[in-house]
Amino acid sequence: MPQMPQGIIKGGQDDLKLSSKELLRNQAYINGQWVDAKSGKKLEVINKATHAVIGHVPDMAGEETKSAIEAAHAAFPAWRSKTSKERADLLYALYAELNANAEDLAKIIVGENGKSLAEAKGEVGYSNSFIQWFAAEAQRTYGHVIPAPLPGVRNVVVKQPIGVAGLITPWNFPAAMITRKVGPALAAGCTTVIKAPAETPFSALALAHLAEKVGIPKGVINVVTCAKGENEAAVGKEICENPIVKKISFTGSTRVGKILFSQCASTLKKMSMELGGNAPFVVFEDADLEKAVEGAIACKFRASGQTCVCANRIYVHEKVYHEFAKKLAAKVEGFKVGNGLEQGTTHGPLVNQVGLEKVEGHVNDSIKAGAKVLIGGKRGEGTFFEPTILTDLPHKPPTDYEETFGPLAALYKFNSEEQVIKMCNDVDVGLAGYFFTNDLNRAWRVAEAMEVGMTGINTGILSQASVPFGGVKESGFGREGFKGIEEYMTDKLMVYGGIN
Ligand code: SIN
Repeated sequence: MPQMPQGIIKGGQDDLKLSSKELLRNQAYINGQWVDAKSGKKLEVINKATHAVIGHVPDMAGEETKSAIEAAHAAFPAWRSKTSKERADLLYALYAELNANAEDLAKIIVGENGKSLAEAKGEVGYSNSFIQWFAAEAQRTYGHVIPAPLPGVRNVVVKQPIGVAGLITPWNFPAAMITRKVGPALAAGCTTVIKAPAETPFSALALAHLAEKVGIPKGVINVVTCAKGENEAAVGKEICENPIVKKISFTGSTRVGKILFSQCASTLKKMSMELGGNAPFVVFEDADLEKAVEGAIACKFRASGQTCVCANRIYVHEKVYHEFAKKLAAKVEGFKVGNGLEQGTTHGPLVNQVGLEKVEGHVNDSIKAGAKVLIGGKRGEGTFFEPTILTDLPHKPPTDYEETFGPLAALYKFNSEEQVIKMCNDVDVGLAGYFFTNDLNRAWRVAEAMEVGMTGINTGILSQASVPFGGVKESGFGREGFKGIEEYMTDKLMVYGGIN
């Protein structure tokens, strides 16, 4: 069995031992000011491993969100008028500050999210790379010159920033999901209002602090914090319905994405949506099993299974099923689950009780329907759950219908390429898909046939700032990373006539 934490819940103030204590802000950031909620209400943020209180942030609502939007609107003309080089220089300065504070930023992530320090450091590197990538992209927003079919006509298309962008981000990557929105938005010349996740607001506030430090002007980045429930809904609604906001970028569940989509209808906002997945991970009979196991560990157990691109359905060819399961279990046995700041911890807890209960529900329902537990299967203290492998998945288990978002590896059996492609595609969503094979023809066939936005071939990790990240079907639309700056710009056509 992997090591599970014992006696972790102790209460009291947890000290993250930050070198720069001013990174841990306890106020929201609106129009260049650090402010409290009008109501004076605060939201308690806990360390997800120990449940000790890390700190408090304002529990804001629609009114403060409106002020943030108005501040972003006021800042827009000056920010869009800067040269792209000036914006790039500020983003490079921010990138340097983010790197200089990487260790502290990782510790903040460990505390508020629960992932291990090694994973949090990985996230900080990933997160910062979006700022670096889009600093460079700021100067590459080329338009077009289009030959005209008529004499005396010249056609030019220029790219213009869309305006105020509302950025709604999740807790599973408290830093990276923000930088991959705020990076392209700022590079394009847009100003922003960020709704920080209730579970993990400190990374968003640390980013705002560093942005202020490098001289990003007031109003360009605004961060609103709020508790889950009524205020969270009010903040989201204001961002979606306020006519000043011209663009929404959302990462989160398909369920919430649909609500935001309908709220944005009245003002017909441009949207990008990175929603839920239910990633298939296929191990063909000709695969290199060592590599496939390595890929499955990275893909399934990253962030304790709490990513939209985590493998959710692991399909293994019947000829290699038992061998793969045995090798996977041997690796999982080596995990050390615990407080991410403790030496050697590989995996942390689930972010909250709702997440824990979902994993437990998937495990129990699958077992009831006939699945066997190879390893794990039970909850631990707090919101810890044992890394789990289930084999012999029954017909239509819960993992067929929705992503578990937790450390459950569900191993299905298949016997032909045709059958497994059908199983992979038999869902409403399509974010990521993975497969392992040594057959080049099969690699092309399967990559083309999988109904997903991103495919990993002989790898369990796809995420990089330089590639387009996004899904198809009910996993959403729009792409982040790569040419994601386009999501924050519009094409302006200029037709010049009467030219001699
Ligand atoms: C997500 O889980 O939504 C994002 C994961 C990633 O960027 O790799």
